[in-house]
Amino acid sequence: MDEIHIWVLSISLILLLHTTNSADEAEKQALLNFYQRLSNGTHPIDPDFGWNASSDPCSDRWNGITCNSGSFIKKVALEGLSFNGILDANSICTLNSLTVFSIQNNSIHGEIPTELANCKQLTHLYVNDNRFSGSLPPSLSRLNNLKRLFLSSNSFSGELPDFARISGLVTFLAQNNQFRGEIPAFDFSNLQQFNVSFNNFSGPVPELNGRFNDTSLLGNPSLCGKPLPKACPPSSPPMKQRSKSRSVERILMYLGYILLALVFFSFIVYRIIRRKKKRESKSNNSKTKKEVVTESKTKASSEYSGYKTGGSRSEFSIPSSTGSGVVSSALVILSKSKMRDLTFEELLKAPAELLGRGRYGSLYKVTFEDETTLAVKRIKDWTISSGDFRRRMEKVDKVRHPNVLPAMAFYCSKQEKLVVYEYQQNGSLFNFLHGTQSEKNFDWGSRLSVAASLGEGLAFMHKELYEDGISHGNLKSSNILINNSIEPCISEYGLMVIDNKAISSVDHGNSYNAICPSPGGPSLFKDDVYNFGVILLELLTGKLVQTNGFDLATWVHSVVREEWTVEVFDKALIAEGANEERMVNLLQVALKCIDPSPEARPSSQQVANMISIIKEDDDRSIVSET
Ligand SMILES: *[C@@H]1O[C@H](CO)[C@@H](O)[C@H](O)[C@H]1NC(C)=O
Repeated sequence: MDEIHIWVLSISLILLLHTTNSADEAEKQALLNFYQRLSNGTHPIDPDFGWNASSDPCSDRWNGITCNSGSFIKKVALEGLSFNGILDANSICTLNSLTVFSIQNNSIHGEIPTELANCKQLTHLYVNDNRFSGSLPPSLSRLNNLKRLFLSSNSFSGELPDFARISGLVTFLAQNNQFRGEIPAFDFSNLQQFNVSFNNFSGPVPELNGRFNDTSLLGNPSLCGKPLPKACPPSSPPMKQRSKSRSVERILMYLGYILLALVFFSFIVYRIIRRKKKRESKSNNSKTKKEVVTESKTKASSEYSGYKTGGSRSEFSIPSSTGSGVVSSALVILSKSKMRDLTFEELLKAPAELLGRGRYGSLYKVTFEDETTLAVKRIKDWTISSGDFRRRMEKVDKVRHPNVLPAMAFYCSKQEKLVVYEYQQNGSLFNFLHGTQSEKNFDWGSRLSVAASLGEGLAFMHKELYEDGISHGNLKSSNILINNSIEPCISEYGLMVIDNKAISSVDHGNSYNAICPSPGGPSLFKDDVYNFGVILLELLTGKLVQTNGFDLATWVHSVVREEWTVEVFDKALIAEGANEERMVNLLQVALKCIDPSPEARPSSQQVANMISIIKEDDDRSIVSET
């Protein structure tokens, strides 16, 4: 508890919005509503099927539900189960993390609701082989994460939304419907599967980039142009038709303007009459009006500071007063938008909880009365001058990546160096892998995503900070935090400098650098790559880096040398049936990273590229493995 006195050094700090995860209960209820509508209330519920209020979709493994780490539902697949109700998009889109949604091969009827566009994370959408009808809502083209879209074998009609806007689309299957109008100008160089056969499409076929032939366009008698045998007629007749419909459009438009003008005019008349009436009762009203104004002001300012107020507490609008002039110069605030001054007394009163202590520093969690929390890293024994430290922090702050946690403020004196971060309540990757509630749902897909995101973040930071020679210096799974959107974030970037004498940059006893000490300089970056490789090994094996006498890297090397490669993988991954080839590919990337010779290690950019290729393969295969 004597550590608390360190807070005396800084007089004002920052507070942040403390968001709580949406209750699982709401998602469960939404799923049940969705199921009710989909099954028309009559689907016989097999007792082993799950989907009842007394169990949990993730831990009780409801049929067709796949969750990722942290019990977020990422996939709902109810296929070939004779559902004959309708699609309740409002309910299903309550699931914030839903990426794969399949209800293919049922007898679901009705239209695709426009609210389906609220499932923003969707990458795979399969509604094929049902009895859907009507036209697709234009809002569907806002699903810009979509990779695969299966609409085939329904009774859809009308024109297609502008799916060409979705640049990442790789599969578009719409055959066997009654779609009409022209085919949107997809980017055919990206599409891998495309079929619009047996519809009523008309007009010219867009440029297919030679990737598809007429078998993707069968049974559309009004289509014309390459690669179909039927040539398009000279462009004049369609133009005429078009201009005719254009002039109708124009008339409608003018009518609209006239209507608008009328509405506006009557509104003004209404206001004039009202104002007259108001004047009569003015005296009564003026008081309440004032109150409304103050209230909305408070609201705006608290929203601006990202601060969650528990009611209308007036002190939020009062600027911190007591003696902030002297010491505040010592605390350098980096992200102004997200904070609010805090008085010294408040700070002092706030309890600090020690989260971890290592050879090179300690980490504290500071909780304020209103439950706002900050993480503060206190660095020990770093012989860097205040000026250098400040320049370093400012340089790192200029480089922002979604998978790297920016510092919010720092303090520097001869004895003390503090760096303040937003507290991440979801803990670290280390907890996810080895913690007490070690996530049984931390599946292969999630681990690969984590690896890919971290690889990108690290490569980006290295590229931007290469000239300045600022590497991370202390990369390890306990420094990888899981943020509110369950994305991994590299924290404590650049807070450690290894000088040539240092054996290891690592505290908390995980001294993997000790295995291959390196001479500093540009190889600082290669040290990060080494440590990143160790994180990949942790993801693949689920094992701790070091426990009495056991060294993960050495162990993996020995197992691979004996050609028992499969033995290294986490049993949970094997049990889940994760694709072995891709796990081996990722293992090979990890082994390159932990090469004893820094020169032989790939750059972080090369690592990121290799992982992203594995991830693309994996994304592509989700369909076939469904
Ligand atoms: C497109 O769909 C039609 C109808 O199902 C099928 O006959 C045709 O072979 C498909 N074309 C391609 C390229 O898959």
